[in-house]
Formats: sequence, structure tokens, C-alpha cells
Amino acid sequence: MKKIIQGGRIATASDVYEADILIENGIIVQIGKNLSVAGAEIIDATGKYVMPGGIDPHTHLDMPFNNTVTDDDWKSGTIAAAFGGTTTILDFCLTAGEEKLSTAVAKWHEKAKGKSAIDYGFHLMIGDLTPQTEAELPVLLEQEGITSVKVFMAYAKEFQATDRTLFKAFKIAKDVGAIVMVHCENGSVIDELVEEARRAGHKEPIYHALTRPAQLEGEATKRAIELAHIAGATLYVVHVTCKEAVDEIIAAREKGYNVYGETCPPYLTLDQSALAQPGFEGAKYVWSPPLRPKYHQEHLWNALKAKQLQTIGSDQCSFSFNGKKQLGLNDFSKIPNGGPFIEDRFSILYSEGVAKGKITVNEFVDMIATNAAKVFGLFPQKGTIAIGSDADIVIFDPNVKREISAKTHHMNVDYNPYEGWEVTGEPVTVLVRGEYVIKEKEFVGVLGSGRYIKRQLKTTAETIKI
Ligand code: URP
Ligand code: ZN
Ligand code: ZN
Repeated sequence: MKKIIQGGRIATASDVYEADILIENGIIVQIGKNLSVAGAEIIDATGKYVMPGGIDPHTHLDMPFNNTVTDDDWKSGTIAAAFGGTTTILDFCLTAGEEKLSTAVAKWHEKAKGKSAIDYGFHLMIGDLTPQTEAELPVLLEQEGITSVKVFMAYAKEFQATDRTLFKAFKIAKDVGAIVMVHCENGSVIDELVEEARRAGHKEPIYHALTRPAQLEGEATKRAIELAHIAGATLYVVHVTCKEAVDEIIAAREKGYNVYGETCPPYLTLDQSALAQPGFEGAKYVWSPPLRPKYHQEHLWNALKAKQLQTIGSDQCSFSFNGKKQLGLNDFSKIPNGGPFIEDRFSILYSEGVAKGKITVNEFVDMIATNAAKVFGLFPQKGTIAIGSDADIVIFDPNVKREISAKTHHMNVDYNPYEGWEVTGEPVTVLVRGEYVIKEKEFVGVLGSGRYIKRQLKTTAETIKI
């Protein structure tokens, strides 16, 4: 079936122009004025932007964490993503100790099977490397088309890798042409500060933020940068939150180091005071790194604008307030870390960024789709509107105003950190490889139709070209 998207304004990372798009067999085959093909279905996009589908490079669906499991699985998570204008996600596949890495990847394929409404790929998380997993790692990355390894410097009791493991991961990644994503916080010192606070009798959610100071993100960022550079690896710093980390990334990039950075909607729009709300309300805003005092936001916006940070991840890691966040009612260190952002990532960045004049629509497309496609080896199959690319397309109404609420969102979580926020703009229709997933704000997709996308290794700073 052929489709023509007619009358819209195509927005890519480089242009905004009026043209029609012809889609055939899931691929964009023609872009031009007044396209007409016998039998093609016409999709009217008059008055709307036609943008590449969002690529969310940072999700945790159906993931065991903090003695529980995230509340959005591959069904609710990918439906919510689609409503929010995201057509591809890259989710973190967790590995554990001595378990074969291929067993972990098989488990992740099983989680997504029959459920994903949009396309997806995996990042492979490494906590520890045994001689067996060290030998398996390069082979598996090649076999599975995984171009990104994830290492945590945080979460001392769960995932934290030693500097030695981190360095080994950098070395292996460099050799196979993968990128290493690092959660940069000094987990050991944070653990000590948390124990100190608990001994002093502090229980409230705000202590989550107070025991994870920005300096410990800056310090870990600097350490990861130097270790990656010594190993000759390409580094991607996930969820950058603060001036301290931004400054390290900028300094490294100015020296020519191969470093990329991601931030997330809450760090651009919410601040630490959210954790200090009366009662236990602050638990809804507990994730790591924590929200920072407000002045950090302008450093993040400026770094995005200056292309020193390149991508926006949702860091979707949802835990309902009732039942899950409440595990930490009497102990802030037991509040599961994470928040629900997969659905509103696109709208929040458009509304707070483009509609408020902080970024252009081209910069928006870059941050929400194109740069992630480039960094993670999906470009130009995904992340742009061009002949030959997958027809992953969002028809976006830039004028509509709507209110965000847990009552109307599609995530399987009982609160929304943006409850009551009015946003400008909304995805109206979303296509994945030319098939409707969202049609006029209704979900019409097919669970399990999302494809696992194998990616190209050797996508490193030399080829990424951002
Ligand atoms: O608090 C967060 N961010 N939870 C998800 C795990 C991680 O650190 O990315
Ligand atoms: Zn993290
Ligand atoms: Zn995360």
C-alpha cells in the first residue's frame, strides 16, 4: 500500500520546507511538490509539521531494579512512546555476573517479543567481566548488531563497575568499534554519604538529592572521560544533569576527545525543590542522578544549543507511587530510582524548547531523533526524512495546547511528574516503516510489529559526524 503525506511542513535537522512524501513498502521513495500516485492513500498534514520519528536512546522497560521491577513493560512502554512521537527505542539489556551475555540478550528479546509496537534495539550493560564474558563480549556485539555498551559508575550495591572493568570495557569497545555509555556518579562515595544520612536519622526523599552532590557527577564524568581517552574509546555520558559534568564534557571536546553527552527532559525543566515537597510527594521525583538546583538548567540548555550535548533520552524507568515508590516511605534510600518520561520526552522538549524560543525546530529534530540515530548506528535508515530512509514519521500539530496528566497518559504508572503542565504541540499521527501506529491520536498499531534493529559496529567519532 502506498501512502502520500500531503501538505505538511517537513522538518529535518537541517531544513523546514513544504513538500509531500510518498511512502512505498515502508520506505520514503519520493519527496516533492504535489505528488500524486494512483491508488495511494492520502494523509493530510496541512498546518502540521512532518518530522522524523523520535529516537529515544535511553529506556528501561520491564527491568528489575532496586528490589522491584519497572512498571512499564514492552507493551505499555512502546504504546506510550508511540503516543509521544517516538518510533524507535534503545533499551538497556542487563547482564549479571557470570551469566553468559547471550543469555541476557535472549532474555531481553523475550521481553520485547510480541509486545513492541515500535522498532527497537539494545545497549548491553556490563557490571563485571569474567574471562568468559570478556571473550564473549566482542562476538556477541557483532552477532546481535549491538553498537553500545553501558557501564555504571553508580549504584554501589547493584550495578557499579570497578574502574578496571570500565577501562576494559573501553578497550574492548574501541577494538570492535562500539561506543561506551556511562552513568557517571561516584557510587562508592554516594553509598557512604547515604549511610551517614541514614545513621543521622534522615528519612525524607530530599536526602536522595543531598547525598548525591553534583561534584560527584562531575568527578565521575572527568574520570570516565580520561579513562576512555587513554583506552582510545568513544564515550557517551548518559543523563548529564549539572554544570560540573557539562564543564568536563566541554573541556574534553575542546581537546578533541571523542565524547558525547545526553540529557533528559526533567533536568531541563524540573529542579531539586520537587524532592522537598511536604509528605512523601518528593518520592515521585527520585531518580539518579537527582534533580539539581535550578541554575543548572541554563548550563544544560546552553550546552545543547552549542552542540556540546547532543541527545535527549527519556531515561524511562517507571515506578508507581502506590506500591513501588512507597517502598521507601521510611527510608529514602529504598525509594526505587526512576521516573516515567517515555511519553512526554518529545512534547516537553518541543514545548519548553521550541515553543518558548530556546531552540529551533531543526535543533529539536537533531536532539530528539537525528543525533541519536547517528551516535548509535541507525542513520540514515532512521532519524531523518530522506529518500531511502524508513518511513518513521510523526505528524505533529505545533499549535494545539494540552495538559499532561496521569489520568490521560498511556504509561502504566499512577502519576506523572508533569501533572497539570500545559504543553504546546502534540503528535497526531505516527507511522513506523509506513504503518500507522497512532492515527489521529488513537492507537491502531500491532503489538509485536516493532522490529529489532541490528546496528552497524564501527560507528565511532570518526564516522558519526555531528
Ligand atoms: O534513576 C534512574 N535513572 N533509573 C534508571 C537507571 C539509570 O541510572 O539509568
Ligand atoms: Zn543511569
Ligand atoms: Zn537510565
